[in-house]
Amino acid sequence: MLVLGVESSAHTFGVGVVDRGKVLANEKSMYGISTTGMVPRNVAQHHIQSANAVVSAALGKAGIDIRDVEGVGYTKGPGIGTCLQVGQIVAKTIASKLHVPIAPVNHAIGHIEIARSMSGLRDPLVLYVSGGNSQILKVLDHTNADRLHYSVLGETFDIGVGNMFDSFARHLGLDPAWGSSVEKVAANGRYIQMPYTVKGMDFSFTGLLTHSIKAIGSHPREDVCFSIRETAFSMLCEATERAMLMTSSKELCVCGGVAQSARLRWMLQSVASEHGARFGYAANEFNADNGAMIAFVAERMLNAAVRTALKDCTIEQRYRAERAEVFQ
Ligand code: FE2
Repeated sequence: MLVLGVESSAHTFGVGVVDRGKVLANEKSMYGISTTGMVPRNVAQHHIQSANAVVSAALGKAGIDIRDVEGVGYTKGPGIGTCLQVGQIVAKTIASKLHVPIAPVNHAIGHIEIARSMSGLRDPLVLYVSGGNSQILKVLDHTNADRLHYSVLGETFDIGVGNMFDSFARHLGLDPAWGSSVEKVAANGRYIQMPYTVKGMDFSFTGLLTHSIKAIGSHPREDVCFSIRETAFSMLCEATERAMLMTSSKELCVCGGVAQSARLRWMLQSVASEHGARFGYAANEFNADNGAMIAFVAERMLNAAVRTALKDCTIEQRYRAERAEVFQ
């Protein structure tokens, strides 16, 4: 089924086209990174202004006409309300105009399922790490193999790890380039002591952020960047390793924006190897927010005959992953 997916939960307005699980297009426009962070009203305005061009670019890349689209997906949540609304309206408009079915997709499930598919893993423990979210998930109940739910085994008590890097980057006067600018400065750093907060399979990042901000000025900036990164990633690895052992997982998958970090992937690969587990992840364009992952999940939902009336196509800012049914 030729499905067009719209992602708009945060800084990215993305449109993807998928046919039988194959990505034909994955176009996007990102809200300009600024020192103010994401002001919801301004980000939504960016999405409104970008929508037409991004939809057209995706159709062009896929080599199709809008009338070829057989189904539509959009991000229902979680995300920023005003931003989600833009994608919702674009998707509903296309679906109602073309008289094709529409599927509201959970953003986290989008990241997880496209990474699981592209990494070739069947039943992995998942570390989902992005700006707004940091969670460890696994399907625990396989009774109904066609319809599954992820369970959240562990998660952040406060902010997402990506949010922590962005806030820290702003305090350092770096471009808050979604963590990567901190990584660059960290390259030649040495470790200084940082607070480390893991409780079972949960973790917390605000203490680490506050301590790191206070350390600016009294320590070389490369040392602070190195130490905040190593501490945060070590916390994630410890909690993930505990979850792997508790669930006897032989596969590990990382996804979400922070999964673009080569250092985090290297550390997780080490954890997986230690326990004889396979490790996998998707290409960077699918770890950053994107429309293809929404189209990918929407196609599976529509193929499973999930039908949602237009009036029921809502958004939900706190739509948690474990509530979304997953279709194979
Ligand atoms: Fe995301």
